[in-house]
Amino acid sequence: MPAGFHQLGGETVTGTLALSVFTAVLGSLEFGYNIGVINSPQKIIEEDYNATWVHRYGEPIPTGTLTSLWSLSVAIFPIGGMLSSFCVGFVSEWLGRRKAMLINNLLAFIGGSMMGLSKLCRSFEMMIFGRFIIGAFCGLASGLTPMYVGEIAPTSLRGALGTLHQLAIVTGILIAQILSLESLMGSEDLWPVLMGLTVVPTVLQMALLPFCPESPRFLYIVRCQEHHAKSGLRRLTGRQEVGDMLAEMKEEKRRMDMERKVSILELFRSPLYRQPTIISILLQLSQQLSGINAIFYYSTDIFRKAGVQSADYATIGAGLVNCAFTVVSLFLVERMGRRTLHMLGLGGMCVCAIIMTIALVLLDSVPSMSYVSMLSIFGFVAFFEVGPGPIPWFFVAELFSQGPRPAAMAVAGFSNWTANFIIGMCFPYVNKLCGAYSFLIFAALLLFFIIFTFFRVPETRGKTFDQIAANFHEHSAGGMMDMGMDMDMDMDKPSTELDYLGEESIN
Ligand SMILES: *[C@@H]1O[C@H](CO)[C@@H](O)[C@H](O)[C@H]1NC(C)=O
Repeated sequence: MPAGFHQLGGETVTGTLALSVFTAVLGSLEFGYNIGVINSPQKIIEEDYNATWVHRYGEPIPTGTLTSLWSLSVAIFPIGGMLSSFCVGFVSEWLGRRKAMLINNLLAFIGGSMMGLSKLCRSFEMMIFGRFIIGAFCGLASGLTPMYVGEIAPTSLRGALGTLHQLAIVTGILIAQILSLESLMGSEDLWPVLMGLTVVPTVLQMALLPFCPESPRFLYIVRCQEHHAKSGLRRLTGRQEVGDMLAEMKEEKRRMDMERKVSILELFRSPLYRQPTIISILLQLSQQLSGINAIFYYSTDIFRKAGVQSADYATIGAGLVNCAFTVVSLFLVERMGRRTLHMLGLGGMCVCAIIMTIALVLLDSVPSMSYVSMLSIFGFVAFFEVGPGPIPWFFVAELFSQGPRPAAMAVAGFSNWTANFIIGMCFPYVNKLCGAYSFLIFAALLLFFIIFTFFRVPETRGKTFDQIAANFHEHSAGGMMDMGMDMDMDMDKPSTELDYLGEESIN
C-alpha cells in the first residue's frame, strides 16, 4: 500500500477520494452556514434596515414593515432552494456532477457578494435578493453533493461517507453560530463580513474541483465513456485493476435501461406509487413542521425572550448539541431502525415542546424557568437529530426503485423547502400572536406525525426493494391487478441494492 493511504472499513481511502469528498461537502458546509448565520445578528441587521428607512424616507420604519422585511430576508432563502432543487436532476445530467458543482458556485459567489455589500449600498433589497440567490445555490448543492459523494464512494464506504453531508451541514450551522457572536462578527460594523464570508468555501471549492475526478458512475452510465470512467476509477481507488467495479456499473446500467423513467405526474396518478409518495411528502413535512428551523432561525430571539443570560452562547450550545447528536444518530440508525428512531425523535421533540411552553408561561413567577426552557430547547434539537433530521432524506430514496426515484426525490425536496419557507415566514407572526404558546402548535403537529408514522410508515432497515414494494402491494386494495406488470420490473433487483442508498445494512 503506497504511503499516505489509509485503511477504513477494509477499503483503501486514497488521497484523491478524500480530496474529492472534502471538496464536495464544502457545499454542504455552506448550506449549513447560511441556515445558521441569520439567527444571532437579527437585532443588529434590523437596526440597519431601520437606519436605511430613516435615510430614505426621513422617518423610522413601522414595526409591522420591519417584521415583514425581516421575515422575508429569512424566508426567501428556502424559496430559492425550492426552485433550484427541482433542477438538480436536469443540471447534473446536462453538465455532469463536477461541472454542475463548479458552476453552482457562481450563484454562491453572487449571492454572498450581494449580502456582503448590502449595507454599503444602503439596500435591504440587495440583502433579500442575495439570500434568494444563496438559497438557490443551497437547493442545488443539497442535491449535487450527496449524489456525487454517493457515486464516487466504494460500496463498503458509501454509508460512512454519505453521512459526511449531514455532518458538514450541522458543522456549518455551528461555525455560523460561533462567528456571529457579537464579540466576533455579529456586530454593527462586521455583519456584512459575516454574510459575505460564505464566499470563502465557494472559492476554495472552485479551486479544488479541477483536481477531483468526475464521477465514474456518471461517465459510464449516463455518458457511456468507458475509458474516462476507468481512469477516474483508477485515481479514486488507487488500483490498476478496476474490472470488478466496472462490471458492477454495467449491471446497474442494465437495470436502469430496463426500468422506465417515471414522471412527477405519474407518481401521483399511479396507485402503485401513491402510497410511498404520500409517505415521502409527510416525512419531509414532519422534519420541517416539527419547528426545528424556528429554533435555527430564531433561537437567539427565543432565548432572549426566555430571559436566558447571554442568548448567543445558548444558541451555540444548541449548535453543539446538534453536532453531537448527529454523530449519535449515525450509530443508532442501523441498529434501531428508521421507523422506531423517527417516532422516538418526534415523541421526544413533542415532550420538549410542551415542557418549553410550560417553562415560558411560568417564567414571570418562577425565574429559574429560563434554564428549564433552555434545556428543553437543547432536548428538542437533540431529539431532532436522532430521527426527523437525517431519516427523511434517505428514507425517500429507499421507498422507490431506480425508475421513479428521481421524480420522488424532486417532490420530496420541493415539499421540504416549501415547509421550510412557511416556517421561516410565519413563525415571527405566530410568535407575536401566541407568544409562549407558539410551540404548542408544533407539539400538536408532532403528535399528528407520530400517529401517522405509527400507522403508515413501514420499516425499511435491511429490507430489499422487493420486500418494501411488496409491503405496499399488500396495503393497497387487491383489485389493482394492473400493478403486476410494474412488480415484475422490480423482480430482478439484487438484495444488495439498499446499500446503494448510502446505508449499509447490518447482517
Ligand atoms: C428606528 O430608529 C429610530 C431612531 O432613528 C427609533 O426611534 C425607532 O424606535 C426605530 N424603530 C424600530 C422599529 O426599531
